Amino acid sequence: MESVVQYLLLALVLTSVQISYTESKLTQRRDKSERRYHAGKNKDNICEITDRASKVHCYCESTEIKTARRADCWVFNGGIEESDPIWSSFNSQPFLERLAFNVRSDGALKFIPLQVIHHLKRLQKLSIHYATFNKIEKKVFHNMTTVREIILMNDKITELDFSSFVNLPLLVNLTIKENKITEIQRDVFVDLPSLKNLDLSFNNINLVYDGCFEHLTTLNDLTLESNLISVLTKDVFRGLANLTRLDLRSNKLSAIGDLTFTELWNLNELLLDNNELKYLSERAFDGLVLLQKLSMTGNKLTAINEGLLEGVRGLELLDLRNNEIVTFTYDTIKPIMDNLKLKTSVLYLSGNKLRCDCRLIWIQVLRNETTSEPLKSALDDVTCMIDAGDKFTRPTKAVDFNDNTKTDGLLEIISNSDVLNQEINEDEGVNRLHKIETTVQPFESQLTVVNIPVESLSCANKLAQNSEDSLMLSSKDESYWKNSSFKLLSNLYLVSTLLLSSILY
Ligand SMILES: *[C@@H]1O[C@H](CO)[C@@H](O)[C@H](O)[C@H]1NC(C)=O
Ligand SMILES: *[C@@H]1O[C@H](CO)[C@@H](O)[C@H](O)[C@H]1NC(C)=O
Ligand SMILES: *[C@@H]1O[C@H](CO)[C@@H](O)[C@H](O)[C@H]1NC(C)=O
Ligand SMILES: *[C@@H]1O[C@H](CO)[C@@H](O)[C@H](O)[C@H]1NC(C)=O
Ligand SMILES: *[C@@H]1O[C@H](CO)[C@@H](O)[C@H](O)[C@H]1NC(C)=O
Repeated sequence: MESVVQYLLLALVLTSVQISYTESKLTQRRDKSERRYHAGKNKDNICEITDRASKVHCYCESTEIKTARRADCWVFNGGIEESDPIWSSFNSQPFLERLAFNVRSDGALKFIPLQVIHHLKRLQKLSIHYATFNKIEKKVFHNMTTVREIILMNDKITELDFSSFVNLPLLVNLTIKENKITEIQRDVFVDLPSLKNLDLSFNNINLVYDGCFEHLTTLNDLTLESNLISVLTKDVFRGLANLTRLDLRSNKLSAIGDLTFTELWNLNELLLDNNELKYLSERAFDGLVLLQKLSMTGNKLTAINEGLLEGVRGLELLDLRNNEIVTFTYDTIKPIMDNLKLKTSVLYLSGNKLRCDCRLIWIQVLRNETTSEPLKSALDDVTCMIDAGDKFTRPTKAVDFNDNTKTDGLLEIISNSDVLNQEINEDEGVNRLHKIETTVQPFESQLTVVNIPVESLSCANKLAQNSEDSLMLSSKDESYWKNSSFKLLSNLYLVSTLLLSSILY
């Protein structure tokens, strides 16, 4: 509590008082007892800077000389030099294990305080926020034998030179996030035998060179989220044999070619959400034998190749929400069907443009058979649209048009009805037809797949699959539905024209 108050006071003093600039004087080192005696006034102790004009102020958990393990430092007053005496004050606390710099005014810190860092023989964690570094030069982070974590966030870094990070034997986490890096060349990360997590998210990376990660054989987690990557080849990931999670969300990928991830045979989780994916080649994910989670929400996929999941038979979570997928066949899902019946597995398909037809019947069967509650509720959200090009497959009878959508459902049938359109066309000409179509468009309804009677999910004339699939309806059922829906439609036509007329005029 006391330290919190202390901290608040410090912050208050530092931010609200107008400071007249006086260069802090570097006093001679005194012996330890004298230091204690002067506690609170010692300019030499980085944890007890009292000079208000100092450009750096640190808050330490323990302030006595040589006792602090952790220092959070604020850099004020623009333009601090490497020669500023403040840096030698850090000698008072040689046992710091965690050191953070938070730069409070733009351009106040333009270099990495290496002389400080190299003196800290027990430093484990270094973080620097809001500095202005531009380029990280060769071997800047070099031979720091105790450092386990480096975080460089919001430091306006545009370039990582060759071997910027070399020989850091204990480095586990490296985060260079929210900077302006545009490319990752080869041999930037070298001799980092403990590195597990590399986070390069929220940069402007548009080019990742082949083999640029190849020295990172121990890496588990690579985060490239929110960059501008549009092309990936399998050579980019060369050497990442231990990678278990790859995050490529919010990039510019539009296609993924065969075997792109094949080097990543330990990969468990692949995130490709919010790209511009339109095309996934059939063997895009081949080689990912251990992949359990594949997420591609918010892309532009219209179709999923039937062989796509053959290469990732271990999938337990597949997320395809908010794409433009028109159909998803049983054959496509078959390779992971058994996994999907397990307790925690999920398949998300909502927010697509699925057509209501027999190709979706497996969704109902899976809904019945799975023991996974998350999957059940995910399937309950899957909707489909009635195919305007298929005049006989509309579920016109006994369909629960989802609670309050009864009227929409009716209009939906009208708007999509070839029969209707044809007759209008004949009766009243093209103009009228056009008028109706555009007016009715917003009512195009989504039906919940699991609520549609199985008999209504028919494929009628354009049946792509045949009886070999036990899930398909017999042709007898189909013609029954053909006939009855046609009859029903004819009746509906009268009612609906009246209804429409009253809306239009
Ligand atoms: C870094 O470490 C390597 C091997 O331990 C050594 O050869 C090299 O001289 C060191 N470089 C610096 C600048 O200390
Ligand atoms: C590395 O980062 C992970 C995840 O943020 C964290 O749990 C772990 O403690 C960090 N390891 C080190 C050595 O800092
Ligand atoms: C991959 O990770 C495992 C366990 O984490 C480790 O035993 C193995 O040495 C690592 N492989 C490489 C190439 O580092
Ligand atoms: C799902 O289960 C219900 C009740 O057991 C059954 O009536 C229905 O026919 C099943 N649906 C499918 C598509 O298997
Ligand atoms: C469907 O209608 C056609 C002609 O209207 C008829 O020949 C056929 O028997 C009907 N099929 C069924 C299953 O009712």
